[in-house]
Amino acid sequence: MPDSLPPQRTQVAIIGAGPAGLILAQLLHQHGVDNVILEAKDRGYVEARIRAGVLEQGTVDLLHQIGAGERLAREALVHDSFELRVDRQRHIIKIQDLAGAPMTVYGQQEVVKDLIALRVEKQREQVLFDAPVLHIADPAGERPSVVYEHGGQRHTLIADVIVAADGFHGVGRNTIPNSMLKQYQRDYPFAWLGIMADVAPSADHVIYSRHTDGLGMLSMRSPTLSRLYLQVDRGATREQWPDERIWEHLHRRLAADDGWRLNEGPIIEFSVAPIKAFVAEPMRYGRLFLAGDAAHIVPPTGAKGLNLAVRDVQVLAPALAALIKDNDSRLADKYSEQCLKHVWWAEYFSCWMTELVHTADDPMAQALALAELRTVISRRGAQTLLAENYVGVSARPPASVTASETLARLT
Ligand code: FAD
Ligand code: PHB
Repeated sequence: MPDSLPPQRTQVAIIGAGPAGLILAQLLHQHGVDNVILEAKDRGYVEARIRAGVLEQGTVDLLHQIGAGERLAREALVHDSFELRVDRQRHIIKIQDLAGAPMTVYGQQEVVKDLIALRVEKQREQVLFDAPVLHIADPAGERPSVVYEHGGQRHTLIADVIVAADGFHGVGRNTIPNSMLKQYQRDYPFAWLGIMADVAPSADHVIYSRHTDGLGMLSMRSPTLSRLYLQVDRGATREQWPDERIWEHLHRRLAADDGWRLNEGPIIEFSVAPIKAFVAEPMRYGRLFLAGDAAHIVPPTGAKGLNLAVRDVQVLAPALAALIKDNDSRLADKYSEQCLKHVWWAEYFSCWMTELVHTADDPMAQALALAELRTVISRRGAQTLLAENYVGVSARPPASVTASETLARLT
């Protein structure tokens, strides 16, 4: 492939147009910092990718603050509770009453659509789709650059800073020498089978049901779309899980003694995602910064993955503005340490909640988790802690901070 074009320049090269990359781009735009987003896939693919669906209030506030909250305000479903089911009994966790905040259900792909429309249609700025980054050069030097492919040609983009918001399988983290990274990983022996069903949700809040066959879960995307999950073996396939088997397990695992009924409808999407926890430390190597899934993965049980990615870029944007505009590296030097505090909080909470509602092979672990779950549903103090962690009230930076305000809080 020819590499004949002269190098381009920007202040921040962002790899990945997921939530982390797109929100960072908006925040940098507000700080007056130039940036380019390079995305491997095409726009249609990125906008259709079904993933997370539950937003913390801090994420919702931030989306409003950057101008991406208009459709969300109209279409999102705001929940003041969620439900834990065990022994066919229903236990409502009143998050609004216990922790002072709701959770908002709005699909990640809707967030991504709104962010792309804001940048492309409203601000007339680009997201370079179909532009996979192949290589990051000199990340620890003074003139780092990325080499990417676009329109059948190879291009070089020189930047003051490179942000890898390129997800778990991206190039960013793999550019960092192994000797400079400490990586923590736990692979759970199970996966989540997820379906989207074209039917009205059977409840107006999210339900996690612990059952001897494994977790059964009900969520939703709209008044007419249900999102449902089952704990299954890693490597489960569509062939092993025809529609009838999926519904049979959902009915059984979500059953309650009070006659609650699960609505069935056509399955319009199917996926299997292995469950893991992962953290790479530090989240920076010279002028290369990692954000979102590129640096960490949480098990989805606490609905924290997307919210965690958002927290990273909230910390990163003022740090990069100070570094680039004022040549002040103090916030950038604290970026990894700052983020790892909320990353480890979310890992702890997500792993804890995972063990609470999934079944395990080890009978002792199984019995202990069940005893713990029964304690949680019977004690207000335990419910309050669960609710506070679920809504994410701790450790979130304020939605709108300048570099100097952040520095003042840290020093
Ligand atoms: P991503 O959304 O992964 O975005 C990274 C982007 O980088 C992608 O668009 C990718 O195409 C692009 N990219 C990768 N490599 C390159 C390259 N070389 N060059 C250019 N671009 C590149 N979280 C929850 O809270 N609840 C859930 O139910 C849930 N379900 C999930 C299901 C799946 C299958 C996955 C993978 C994740 C799920 N998550 C869930 C996690 C949540 O969706 C992520 O935490 C969130 O997407 C993180 O956003 P991000 O921007 O960091 O990464
Ligand atoms: C979802 O709606 O996709 C969802 C809800 C709650 C979770 C995870 C995913 O904990």
